Order: sequence, then structure tokens, then C-alpha cells
Amino acid sequence: MEHEHTDPLRTGRRRVLITGAHGQLGRALQEVFADDDLVALSHEDWDVASPPRDDRVRGTFDLVLHSAAWTDVDGAESDPQGAAAVNVGGTANVAALGAPLVAFSSDYVFDGRKREPYVESDAPNPLSAYGRTKLHGEAAAGDDPWVVRSSWLYGPTGHNFVRTMLRLGAERDEVAVVDDQRGSPTYVGHLATATRELVDSDLARGVWHLAADGDCTWAELAEAIFEDGGLDCRVRRISTAELGRPAPRPAYSVLRSERPAAPALPHWREGLRACLEELGH
Ligand SMILES: NC(=O)c1ccc[n+]([C@@H]2O[C@H](COP(=O)([O-])OP(=O)(O)OC[C@H]3O[C@@H](n4cnc5c(N)ncnc54)[C@H](OP(=O)(O)O)[C@@H]3O)[C@@H](O)[C@H]2O)c1
Repeated sequence: MEHEHTDPLRTGRRRVLITGAHGQLGRALQEVFADDDLVALSHEDWDVASPPRDDRVRGTFDLVLHSAAWTDVDGAESDPQGAAAVNVGGTANVAALGAPLVAFSSDYVFDGRKREPYVESDAPNPLSAYGRTKLHGEAAAGDDPWVVRSSWLYGPTGHNFVRTMLRLGAERDEVAVVDDQRGSPTYVGHLATATRELVDSDLARGVWHLAADGDCTWAELAEAIFEDGGLDCRVRRISTAELGRPAPRPAYSVLRSERPAAPALPHWREGLRACLEELGH
């Protein structure tokens, strides 16, 4: 007998687990998947580096959105094993639940030597410890996951470049910002919506590049934040070498999808406006 409406991914209230629920993407996913039956677990609820002990992780899930991660890129250089325990071991623990899984990954899996957008079939070659853990995390995500790579995430909560610039721009006349790294700053609300489109349309599993349209350098992003945020602060353009951070970062990490039917995200400038509006600017 044919059951037209039995696919739990496409119909009705799904039982959906979100890891890293208090992170910036985790919060956006909770909003976008709010009409599902959500089990949203923070770091405190489930440290994914260990198997789950929380009762709420019992039973079966129709979908798991794995947004928990070690995201301290510089910190991973001095503690690569700590970062791997979360980004590789943690992803394996989440995949072991056996449910359809979206694992989030990063533009930092690429070395940044290209000068045109990275597509899914490009060969990764991470420069940093963080990038290596994210790449190994992709491989640890089980047999048939959606691996969603995105870039330069920001939203109204948590630690991110937009919030940092809003704070510094209100305190100072000038900030020094790197102008030799180019990427696509992606608003977490737009990424969460595109993720929902991916799973609701039941698009094929595998790697998907989901990042904002357009690209810029960090300095250009800072200027846009000050302009749209109404802050009177100059940007002094500096090089990555001048900033001297511990972790190497790709000079170019713009992501685009080469896959048919890939969900399209709005331009980064639109994402910035949406975020500033949420923050009351
Ligand atoms: N941020 C970016 O620019 C960026 C770019 C590309 C891809 N990504 C990827 O996108 C995903 C979401 O990132 P995000 O920006 O939302 O990061 P985020 O704001 O740092 O959120 C990550 C969350 O994971 C939690 N977490 C850390 N270690 C954990 C552990 N052992 N067990 C359970 N939870 C743990 C953190 O909790 P605590 O704060 O309490 O530690 C935090 O709430 C990650 O996979 C990240 O690698 C991020």
C-alpha cells in the first residue's frame, strides 16, 4: 500500500535534536525549526565529546542539527586534541544516534589559494588545526549526512565580528582591520533558513556550500557595519601578518554551490541589515 505522507522529513511535526543550542547558529536553528518538536541541548546539557547521558537524547529523532563545535580557531592551535575531541569525536557521537544528520562545517577546510569561489568538488586543504578538525569532523559524520559548509557566521548573540565591531565602533575613532582575507559573511538566520530548505526539500545528502551571496574583506565588512550601524569610526586597513594571530587563515574562502537546486542565501549586506535591525540599530 502507498503511503504518500509518511516521510517524517517532509511532513508534520518532526522530532528534531539541536546540539550547541546556545551557540549563535543553534539559536537561529531553534527559531527556524520552531514548529517541530525540538530537543534543543546546550553545551551544559550534552558535552558531545562524550556519549549522551541526558534522558532527552533517548528514542529516535527524525532529524539532528549538529551545530555544537569548538569554534575558537586560535585556541585550537595550542590545544588541537581538545578541538578534535569536540569537532571529530563529538561529531562521531552525534552521528552514532543513527538519525538523519546535518553536520555544519567551515570554509576553513580550504587553503585559500583559489581566486574564484570554492565549490563542493574542490579539494580541501586546511591550513589550521581548527580547519583540520572540521574536515575530519565531516568524515566522522556517519554514512550519509548533509554536510553544510558555511563561512564567517554572525548573528545577534554570541561572539562574532559584527558584535565586536559595534562595541569597538562606539568606543573608538579608529579600528585596525584585516584587508587581505576575503570571504562571505553569513547571517545565521539566513543559514538556518537555507538549512531548513535543504532538509524540507529532501535534497540529496553530501556536501553543500551554503553561504551568503557576494563577498568582501573583514575591513570592508567593518566599514559596512559602521555605515549601516550609524557609527562614526574609521577603518585602518592592515594585513593578516600585521595582526599576527596564532592560526593561519585562508586569504580567500568564498563558498558557492555547484549543486542543482542549492538553496540560495541573500547577499551579505542584506544579512547585515537583518542582524543590525535585530540588535536595534
Ligand atoms: N563562527 C563562524 O564563523 C563559523 C564559520 C563557518 C562554520 N562554522 C561552523 O558552524 C557551526 C556553528 O558555529 P557557531 O558560529 O554557531 O559557533 P558558536 O556560536 O561558538 O556555538 C557553538 C556552540 O557549541 C557549544 N560547544 C562547544 N563545545 C561543546 C561541546 N563539547 N559539547 C557541546 N557543545 C559544545 C558552545 O558552547 P560554549 O560556548 O558553552 O562552549 C556553543 O554554544 C559550527 O560547526 C562551526 O564550526 C562557524
